[in-house]
Amino acid sequence: MTGTRTMTTAPSVADFLRDFETMSAFGATPAGGVDRQAASAPDIEQRRWFAGLLESNGFRVEYDRIGNQFGLFDAAPGEPYVVVGSHMDSQPTAGRFDGAYGVLSAAHAAFRVAAEHRSGTGTLRYNLAVVNWFNEEGSRFAPSMMGSSVYTGVMPLETALAIQDHTGMTVEEAMRPTGFLGASDGPTAAYSAEIHIEQGRILENSEITIGLVTASWAASKYRVVVKGEQAHSGATVMEDRHDALYGASLLVVFARELADRFPGVLHTAVGQLDVYPNSPVVVASETTLLLDLRCADETVLAEANALLDARFSEIESIARVTIERALSHNWGVNPYQTAGVELARSSAEAAGYSHAEIMTVAGHDSINMKEVVPTVMIFVPSVEGISHNEGEYTRDDDLVAGAAVLTDVVRRLSAGELDGESK
Ligand code: GLV
Ligand code: MN
Ligand code: MN
Repeated sequence: MTGTRTMTTAPSVADFLRDFETMSAFGATPAGGVDRQAASAPDIEQRRWFAGLLESNGFRVEYDRIGNQFGLFDAAPGEPYVVVGSHMDSQPTAGRFDGAYGVLSAAHAAFRVAAEHRSGTGTLRYNLAVVNWFNEEGSRFAPSMMGSSVYTGVMPLETALAIQDHTGMTVEEAMRPTGFLGASDGPTAAYSAEIHIEQGRILENSEITIGLVTASWAASKYRVVVKGEQAHSGATVMEDRHDALYGASLLVVFARELADRFPGVLHTAVGQLDVYPNSPVVVASETTLLLDLRCADETVLAEANALLDARFSEIESIARVTIERALSHNWGVNPYQTAGVELARSSAEAAGYSHAEIMTVAGHDSINMKEVVPTVMIFVPSVEGISHNEGEYTRDDDLVAGAAVLTDVVRRLSAGELDGESK
């Protein structure tokens, strides 16, 4: 914790690294990772800790209707906010940097900018909002980026609150008792910023410290239900079977083959597979798959989606099943505002860090935010590109470098430096 530091003193690098260690203890796994799925006990405990950190630095804590957690610093009455943050929820057995690093960097950046304001050395044209977006991962409650989707109006609040986890519990049922569902729509944003680990190898391979994110890869995520007929796995003759797991397996294999057809441009996986009745001597009657396609090129993605459609029909006849699919989440190859990229570039340059433009392959809350306000997205290197894995790692000097660049970005956005730039 930040201890006895006074509010006019900006947090130090040592404070930042110590807070990161503290935050990594919530949901810590024996192998050095975290398991902190949205609205789980560790997620809730960590949110409480984070509220304390914000308050002890003079920020007021507020929650919107979907449970996004905001730390607000009001210095410019009636003005909107520079919203800076990421997410603290995780995948199961995940790494400790994904999201959490971005939220803590945002908090420390805002603490420093607020301290500069209090001591009269900085100018705040806008107010500051640190944000911990609810359920970015979408592991317990799919789809991902839920909190920022509701905040930006991409997903209706009622839809999000009604989404169920594996046990049938809804977001509302999980979140209401925690006290984290507020009554507001959250602070109004003027600008936003997010820092995140790259989750790939590009920065590390090119020995670059700061990634200036220019655009997102596109994504199409499907929920696919393969329906067959329950049968005896031994006694039923093969010709009589309608094996839903066989159909699903053909789809899993096809997803991989599809990516192999477009090397480097298309990434695919089935990340989740539910089998009913999932019993040893039973041919499955129903399987549900979550299929994820990511693509650097929207034309290639359209082609991949068409090939997938054709394969769905073939699988229906090969496995004698029916397939229902719904697009559960999608976004395009969309740019971040150029003025924001240039702002981040000059902040990295001024601090003497190497930098390069990069696209984000993973989804981030900033993908939603950039559709409503000018948004800056920054990456720091991931060792060996490992992510969604307990072995995820980013070196301290890269964590500190990124946090310093983010601080300057927040300082400049909140001083109104991008006002008047094309948005
Ligand atoms: C979320 O992190 C995603 O990449 O969809
Ligand atoms: Mn993330
Ligand atoms: Mn993630």
